[in-house]
This record gives sequence, structure tokens and C-alpha cells, in this order.
Amino acid sequence: MTTTAVSPAGLTDPGLHAHGDPHAVWRWMRAHDPVHRHQEAELPAFWSLTRHEDIRSVYRDAAGFSSARGVLLRSGDDPGGGMTLALSDAPRHRQLRGLMADWFHTRAVRGLEGYVRAATRSVLGRALELGECDFAHDVAGRLSLSVICHILGIPERDHEDLYRWTNEAFEAHRSLVSHPLLVEYFMELLYQRMEEPTDDLVSSLVNGTVDGELLTEEEAVFNCENLIGATENGRLALIGGMQAFLEHPDQWQRLADDRSLMPGAVEEVLRWTSSATHSMRVATRPHEIRGARIEAGDRVVLWLPSGNRDEEVFTDPYRFDVSRSPNRHIALATGEHVCIGGTLARAEMRVLFTELLDGVGRIEQSGPVRRLRSIEVNGPESLPVRLTAK
Ligand code: HEM
Repeated sequence: MTTTAVSPAGLTDPGLHAHGDPHAVWRWMRAHDPVHRHQEAELPAFWSLTRHEDIRSVYRDAAGFSSARGVLLRSGDDPGGGMTLALSDAPRHRQLRGLMADWFHTRAVRGLEGYVRAATRSVLGRALELGECDFAHDVAGRLSLSVICHILGIPERDHEDLYRWTNEAFEAHRSLVSHPLLVEYFMELLYQRMEEPTDDLVSSLVNGTVDGELLTEEEAVFNCENLIGATENGRLALIGGMQAFLEHPDQWQRLADDRSLMPGAVEEVLRWTSSATHSMRVATRPHEIRGARIEAGDRVVLWLPSGNRDEEVFTDPYRFDVSRSPNRHIALATGEHVCIGGTLARAEMRVLFTELLDGVGRIEQSGPVRRLRSIEVNGPESLPVRLTAK
């Protein structure tokens, strides 16, 4: 292993996450420098936390570590700060969460399963007709986008446009907010729902109140985009999960032979893929972590894939094991900002893997995997596969 391969500074290079081995860096940091101070030219100084226990403690102290200036490592503060669910602190965060929570709790997701199954069958049917396809775009991307569009109340006829615009924004590695057609589309939808509310999440956002006040148009649009953007994590977990099974056919066979392993397999895919690469927080008061003094105003970056390979918490952490138990992964965060879409993401995975086992005879990789160049989310950007019907 070369020195560059374990340099903590490399973590902010998207190229490392696309072509290198960030796990080698995190493994070294957990052992030798678990609370590391970065001072890189292109970014404000920040701390890196790589141990499961430390990451959990920061997530669980939302008053001591704020989300309101941004939750991703950027050169400045996030323009959506204070406006969206992910980018707000208590008490506003709790109120915004209250507006959206009904759409994501267990009962709501159970009610959505019929839609998720139908959408899964539709994308798999199309993929089987194609024979060879890109699992990332043709299966996982279409599926996760159509499910969130359904929750937001976007008519089926517009899903294709939304899919194209979000892909364009992701491919350009730009914030979704910067896609003018997407903003225009949501503005139009908001006005329609103000006049004629229906039973969908956009209607809840435009007609619900926080502290007796309606959200501004900008806040409502940012929250819609935040939801669409957040599903990128779900999409990457589906693709990364498929890749994990292609690389570990024995684990796919175990699941095929014993479907009672499915819930545990979904948790292991979440841990293994850890598709959200980091969360950032800003300290609101001084803290001491493992002897390091963190001052109020300091940025702290939590590296989730590292926490999910922490050898102090997971036995044999680099083994993909669908029967792993216990599995205390933190892929969906923990504490007040724990992923609101967790139950939905789990349902999408369970349904997709079940439908693949039931309806598809053979799944083979038919080309090289290309990984995303990003320090924010990680996983395959492209996964060419050949699917053969049973
Ligand atoms: C496997 C898939 C997913 C992973 C790994 C994941 C991961 C995460 C993580 C780590 C956070 C905490 C971010 C932070 O506070 O810094 C989070 C929050 C969030 N996630 Fe997910 N997510 C997934 C799927 C989804 C889906 C499908 C949705 C769609 C609805 C979603 C919507 C959100 C939202 C809105 C938040 C902000 C919650 C809050 O601040 O209260 N996520 N997610």
C-alpha cells in the first residue's frame, strides 16, 4: 500500500471514490487517527470522524451539532440552509418533519407496496425485453424515481420528464435546484395543489403550516427537490445491492433458498453499500472527542461507510453476509435526522430482490461497472447486466 493510498486528504478527492480504495484510508484512520483535522486548500477546515461510536454520538447530539448550515462538505454554506427538512434544526426541523412524516411511516409504506410491486414488475418487464440493459438507469433509477413521484402526486405521464431532468442534474453533478425545468415544474404543481389540494405530499407541503404559517413557495420547492435528491441514495443502494449479489453469488443463492433471510439481507445491503458517503455538522459549542478539542463553528464530517466497517462493532466487517446478526449499521443515520425514507428504501429493496428471484432466471454482468465520482454519495453509476426470464 502506498502512502498516498492512506492519506486522509485523499478523501475529498472524488477520484478516490470512483477509482481508488477509500476503505483503505478509512481503515487506517480508524486505527491511527479517528478524529482527524483536515486543512485542505480548496475547502474550509474540517474534522473527520471514522469510528462508529463517534459518528453515532454526533448524530444523537443534534443540539450540539447543527444541520442548518449544510449537511454536505462544500466551500460555503448551503443555500437551502434552514429551509428544508435535512437542513434545519429544532424546533423547525421537528415541525417540518411532522408535515411529511405521515407519508413515510410503516403503515403508509405498507399501503404503497402494491404500487412499488407494480412499478418493479413494469421496469423488470422492460429490462427483460431489452435483454441487456443498464441496471442503474433502466431498473433502479426508474423504479426509485417513479415511487417518489407517486408519493409527491406527480402524474404518471410526467414521470419520464422528471426522470430525464433529475438524471441531467445528477450527471452534471449539480444541485437539483439548479435545473430550471425541475424548479418550473414544481412551481406549477404547487400552484395547482394550492387551488385544488389532493391526497399527496405536495399538497401537504403547500397547505400545511409550521408555527401557524404556510411554507414559502421557495421552501416548498426546495423540500420537493430535497426529497427527489434524497432518493438518489435509495437508487444507489439498489444498484450496489445488485452488484454485491453478482459478486457474491453464494449469498444470492442462500436468499433464493431461504426467503426468511430477506429482512436481514436488506440490512446487510444497507450496511455494505452505505450509499450516503458522509454527513456534515457544524458544532454549536465546544466538544472533546478522543482528546481532540472541537470548537463552536467547526465543521465535523461523519464518514458512514467507515462506521459501517468498524471492526469494534462488526465481526469480519469486510464480509458480505446476508445472515449477519446483530447488524447495527448507521447507513440511514440515527437520531433526530434519521432518514425519513428508510422504511420506503427497505420496501423497494425487498420487493425488487423478491421480484428478481421470482421472475428472472439469470442475471449476469455484461460490462464493466463505473463508479460515481462524488464524495457525497457512492456506488455504481452504471452496471450493465443481461437478464434472462425464467
Ligand atoms: C438506502 C437508501 C437511503 C440511504 C442510505 C439514506 C441515507 C440518509 C442519511 C444518512 C440521512 C441523514 C442525513 C443527515 O442528516 O446528514 C438521510 C436523511 C434523509 N433521507 Fe435518506 N437515505 C436513503 C433513502 C431515502 C429515500 C428513499 C428517501 C425519500 C423519500 C430519503 C429521504 C431522506 C430525507 C428527506 C432525509 C432528511 C431527514 C431529516 O433531516 O429529518 N432517503 N438519509
